[in-house]
Amino acid sequence: MSELQAVRGMHDVLPEELPYWRRLEEVFYVVSSRFGYEEIRTPIVEYAQLYVRSVGEASDIVHKEMYTFADRSGDQLALRPELTAGVVRALVQHGLLQRRSVWRLWYYGPAFRYERPQKGRYRQFHQYGAECFGSPYPESDVDVLLLAITILQQLGITGYEVQLNTLGSTEVRQRYRQALRDYFSSVRLHLSPDSQQRLERNPLRILDSKHPDDQPWIEQAPVVWDFLDAESRSHFEYVHAAIAEVGGTVVLNPRLVRGLDYYTHTVFEFVSPRLGAQNAFGGGGRYDKLVESFGGPSLPAVGFAFGVERLLLLMERPPQEAMVQIYVATTGAVQAAQQVVRLLRGAGYSAVADLQRRSLKTQLRDADRLGATLAVIVGDSEWQRGSVLLRHLRESAQWECALPDLLPHVRQALSR
Ligand code: HAM
Repeated sequence: MSELQAVRGMHDVLPEELPYWRRLEEVFYVVSSRFGYEEIRTPIVEYAQLYVRSVGEASDIVHKEMYTFADRSGDQLALRPELTAGVVRALVQHGLLQRRSVWRLWYYGPAFRYERPQKGRYRQFHQYGAECFGSPYPESDVDVLLLAITILQQLGITGYEVQLNTLGSTEVRQRYRQALRDYFSSVRLHLSPDSQQRLERNPLRILDSKHPDDQPWIEQAPVVWDFLDAESRSHFEYVHAAIAEVGGTVVLNPRLVRGLDYYTHTVFEFVSPRLGAQNAFGGGGRYDKLVESFGGPSLPAVGFAFGVERLLLLMERPPQEAMVQIYVATTGAVQAAQQVVRLLRGAGYSAVADLQRRSLKTQLRDADRLGATLAVIVGDSEWQRGSVLLRHLRESAQWECALPDLLPHVRQALSR
C-alpha cells in the first residue's frame, strides 16, 4: 500500500477515456427521457441498516463486501453498494408516492463493493439503473427491459444474451427456499464449506456457487418452475414472449437467483461472453415488497442496473473528435494572441493559445497534436496592419485576413 497510489480497485478516469464516458452518459440521458424516465440523485452514503433490510443481511454484498464505518457521532454508515435501496428510501421519505402512483426513475453514479479486483470488477464502480414503481403487471417488466435493450442498441453492443428467470410470488419463493433447504441438507456433507454456510442463511444462493464440489448437487436440485402458481407462471411467460419478440436472445435459466434478497417474480441478467469471468454487465428484476418494507404503501416495482465499466468494455469506440478546433500561435505578440483566443471562444469555437512562449514551429506541432483544424497566427507585423494569418492545417493553405473578417473566414474554413 502506498498513499500515493489510488486505493486498490478504485480508478481514475483519464482524459483520453472521458469521451467514451460522455457518450454513455448522453445515451443514458437521451434514451431514459425517451422512455419517460426522470433522473433521481441520492447520496453516496446511507445508513448501513438500509442495505441490511433490503439487499439482505445474508447476501454477500452486505455480509462481505460493504464498506461500513462509524461516523464521528457513532452512526453506522455505508458507502452504497447499489442504488435501488436509496431510491426507494427517497421515494418513501419524501412522500412522492402520495403525489403519483407511478414513478419511472433513472440514476447514474458510483457504487462500492469490497470485492477482489479483476477485469471488469472494481471496488468503486458505476451503475446506471432504472426503476419503474406502481405496476404489478408484466408490461412494466418489459418496459424496463426494453429501456435496457435500447441503450445497448444505441451503444452498438451486440452478441449478448438476456438470462431470464422467475422466483415467483413471495409464497412461491418461500416454498422453493424450503424445498432447497431440505434438498441441500440431505447432501450437506458433499457441499463446499461456503455452501454449507449458505444452507442456513440463504439456500437460494447455493445455486450461484461456482465451486466444483457443488456442481453435481446443483444440477439435481429442485427447479423453481415446478413451484410456480398460475399467476407467477403467466407473468413469466408474458415477459419471456415480449422480449423474444423484440429480437433479444433470451435464455431461460432456472438457476438464476441474483445476489440481492429483495426480488420476487422476474429476475434477469445481461451476459456477454466477451467479458470473461465477470460476464454479467447488468441485472435486475421485480421487487414487489421492498417499498412496503421501507414503511411506504404496498407498491410493486421492477428495475435493473448496468455496470458502466462493463458497458465501456463492450461498446463501440468510434474515433474521438479533436480536442480543439483552433490553435492560436504567435511569433511574439502574446497579448494580441490572447485577445484573438478570447474572441474565438466568445464566438463559440474551442480555441487555445500557446502558454509557454515557444517557437512558431513548436506551436504548430502542438496544434497538430491537439488535432486542431485551423491555426490563427498572430504575427507582429500583420497585427500592426490589423490582420492575422490563417492556416488550414489539413490543407496546408495559408492566407492573410483582416481582423474584422476573422470570424466569417474561420466559419468558412472549418466547414470545408
Ligand atoms: P447487481 O447485479 O448487484 O444489481 O449489479 C448490477 C451490475 O453492476 C452488475 O451486473 C455488474 O455489471 C455491475 N457490478 C456489480 N458489482 C461490480 C463490481 N464490483 N465492479 C464492476 N461492476 C460491478 C444491483 O445492483 C441491483 N440494484 C439492480 C436492480 C435495480 N435491481 C432492481 N433494480
